[in-house]
Amino acid sequence: MKPLRGVAKRIGQGYNLLSNAQKAGLTPKEIAKLVRYMAEYFSDKTFLRDFHARIEEAKQAAKGSPIGGWFTPFGQALLYALVRLFKPSVAVETGVAAGGSSRIILYVMQKNEKGRLFSIDLPEGDMKLYPKDIVNSRIGTYLPPGYSTGWLVPEWLKGRWKLYMGDARLLLPELLESIGEVDLFLHDSLHTSEQVRMELEVVFPRLRRGGLLMADDVNEDWTLAFVDFIQEQGLRPAVFAQRYGVALKR
Ligand SMILES: C[S@@+](CC[C@H](N)C(=O)[O-])C[C@H]1O[C@@H](n2cnc3c(N)ncnc32)[C@H](O)[C@@H]1O
Repeated sequence: MKPLRGVAKRIGQGYNLLSNAQKAGLTPKEIAKLVRYMAEYFSDKTFLRDFHARIEEAKQAAKGSPIGGWFTPFGQALLYALVRLFKPSVAVETGVAAGGSSRIILYVMQKNEKGRLFSIDLPEGDMKLYPKDIVNSRIGTYLPPGYSTGWLVPEWLKGRWKLYMGDARLLLPELLESIGEVDLFLHDSLHTSEQVRMELEVVFPRLRRGGLLMADDVNEDWTLAFVDFIQEQGLRPAVFAQRYGVALKR
């Protein structure tokens, strides 16, 4: 399969893309489409050029301090492909910072001609738990001077977006009350076991059958609460690239 060779070359051989996709419960047809969509992401030079240009500008503003927090190219392509494949009507994410994941979800929603994204972010929420130098050295600064939450999201993608500023512990249950069923949930806020579990516990009953759960930083360095929670529901979590947790509510 030609696109598969392209993706494998681009992301290296180490990610077990196909076996993880099987593990997450995707059908062979869905896996074939997932791979094709990942290849589509890597070949979208206009989108990627703008992504990198915004990051370069922010680096100048950061004056040498490291900036970061968004998904790796593999993670970006995986998120892109999953949203392209499952075409969510209602997506919710916690943890925006620069807005890398928001940018991708909103871009695909525009391609899908379908969907709304509700995001929640508490700026510097991580700093309340981890010393600033740990966050800055492990992840990088999210907001260089003069930059605000979601700076990676261009204006022309904001029509389908609602961004709420505050603690997901308070705002997520309220938001879910008001929007009803959810098709996609992405956790990328505070990676403590308590926070991950709390978010999944309130989202799971609202997640449509066939809906998708994702979490970033699913590993022993942060927390494996995503894996534990999904297994407790009798479902099969997959962790791509030792980082991106994915599960389908089938
Ligand atoms: C890793 S960054 C998100 C990266 C983003 N998904 C991306 O792809 O660019 C985590 C964000 O979650 C925020 N955060 C931390 N604790 C939070 C909480 N309790 N509620 C909401 N957001 C929180 C952090 O301040 C930070 O802005």
